[in-house]
Amino acid sequence: MCGIVGYIGYRKAHMVIINALKRLEYRGYDSWGVAVVQGNKLDIHKQVGAIGEIESQEFGEATLGIGHTRWATHGKPSDVNAHPHLDCNGNIAVVHNGIIENYLSLKNDLMKEGHKFVSETDTEIIAHLIEKNNGSLENAVFSAISVLKGSYAVVVISPDERKIVACRNKSPLILGVGDGEFFVASDTPAILEYTNRVVYLEDGDTVVITDSGYEIKNNGIKVERMVELVPWSLDDAEKSGYEHFMLKEIHETPRVIEETIAGHVSDTIELDVSFAAGISELVFVACGTSLHAAIVGKYIIEEMSGIPVRVEYASEFNYHTTPISRSLVVGITQSGETADTLEALRKAKGNGARILAITNVLGSSVTRVADYVIYTRAGPEIGVAATKTFIAQLVALCLVALKLSMLPRSELERFILEMRLLPEKIRKILDEKEKIKEISEILAEFDNMMYIGRGIAFPVALEGALKMKEISYIHAEGYPAGELKHGPFALLGEKTPVIVCIIRDETYDITLSNIKEVKARDSPVFAFSDEKDREIDKYVDYAVKTPEVDRIFAPIVLSVALQLLAYYTARVKGCEIDKPRHLAKSVTVE
Ligand code: AGP
Repeated sequence: MCGIVGYIGYRKAHMVIINALKRLEYRGYDSWGVAVVQGNKLDIHKQVGAIGEIESQEFGEATLGIGHTRWATHGKPSDVNAHPHLDCNGNIAVVHNGIIENYLSLKNDLMKEGHKFVSETDTEIIAHLIEKNNGSLENAVFSAISVLKGSYAVVVISPDERKIVACRNKSPLILGVGDGEFFVASDTPAILEYTNRVVYLEDGDTVVITDSGYEIKNNGIKVERMVELVPWSLDDAEKSGYEHFMLKEIHETPRVIEETIAGHVSDTIELDVSFAAGISELVFVACGTSLHAAIVGKYIIEEMSGIPVRVEYASEFNYHTTPISRSLVVGITQSGETADTLEALRKAKGNGARILAITNVLGSSVTRVADYVIYTRAGPEIGVAATKTFIAQLVALCLVALKLSMLPRSELERFILEMRLLPEKIRKILDEKEKIKEISEILAEFDNMMYIGRGIAFPVALEGALKMKEISYIHAEGYPAGELKHGPFALLGEKTPVIVCIIRDETYDITLSNIKEVKARDSPVFAFSDEKDREIDKYVDYAVKTPEVDRIFAPIVLSVALQLLAYYTARVKGCEIDKPRHLAKSVTVE
């Protein structure tokens, strides 16, 4: 939700900033802007739309600046609402990610004092609050943020002092430490081209950066924070010849599975599950794709360990009062920054629950809230649609389920062996994608579709539908296969294809019956099944076959095929695949 960046050093600031913003564009892409300090004044460029270029002569040799790519919250996308925002004198420039909840009352007070506003944003008040306060830029910023309520990562510059002042409260912000240069950014891919040494700033931190170094204070008190090495390379954050990040990221799945397994398994599963000691249940909280991973996790963990598992929308978790003091509350979030998930975990922690986080991002906010962390090893995911990170979550959840199970060692070893074969099987799907492409050309003609599945295939259907609607803009609903007859049947017919996710387990025969019911209502049926399933061809119009795997791994292989289906359908329709309209990769507002 908005990407922010700041640079101080020896390079041309506007070039570093535009580079960094392009890498942050997945966080928001409705408008953008840059401000640099040029002598004793600020030069600003702001505009609606995707990040473009700035003529070099516009910003010349400036080596201090800030930039922003926006996902609109307050005020529609426009040149005026784009960041940076300025004070009355145009002497203070601010970029912001987050939401200032009390901005209206602060704005009213400032207007009464004579401050003039030009935008509809909440951010603009920060520039005016800083202007109102006397003293050094650092002190003025500190006083300004002390009256803010809400979430913010803020970066400020002024031609009066050669420095950057940046603060963080509940919105991500990192400090990049280079040789003779420093960066601040919402996320590490923005700066990987220049440095992999970062400090993960914490809530309440203010950092003041000059050419010679930086000082961090937490709520006014000086603190030391560790400089950490980011384990990702620049190549991870580039398209590397693929047409879209999404396609590249789907193709990275085999490696992601290998690495996630390697992180937790040797001869046996080494994952430390002491977090589960003495708990009465697991409660998963998550959003979107991560929620679907949680539902898969529920099926597998309950089956393997007998421990009850609840799955809750993170955004609804705070509105009911089920006791959780003996629960292990598990936040699943690839970014580690999703505000709904973080708020749910904070509330659970406040009510005495133990917290486990499953995340893909080292140092992300969720790792500070959690008592225990399991890292997936997917590398940075740039495409807004979660693909490889979803698969990595499924692998991690399978490992948790297996570790919590009472299975004899020989059985566990069989599963580990099976897991190690998954990358090869996924490669086969990727190599044989022609059938999926063929189907996507047919599906691209429709405006509505249903995805159905039973048991462990039900969350696969939910995720398949989310992927389809998110990037192709085709209305797609995921349903338990048995639920269609309780209402959605009314939508069936030749204009509503049904995508069936089917697994050859105890749900197989009854799902075949559901397919017959759907066919009787004239909907074209497309099935995703495994290569040993010969029966299915008799019942459906098109069948995509994936390699045979143990049923607990079926969601993994089926999901990769469904991700490809969504990708190619969106491609046929000419959609903006990596940056679907109205969305952002990391949703840092509730
Ligand atoms: C999935 O394709 C979406 N981009 C979205 O549903 C996402 O999974 C959700 O916003 C949660 O993100 P998180 O895993 O970073 O918490």
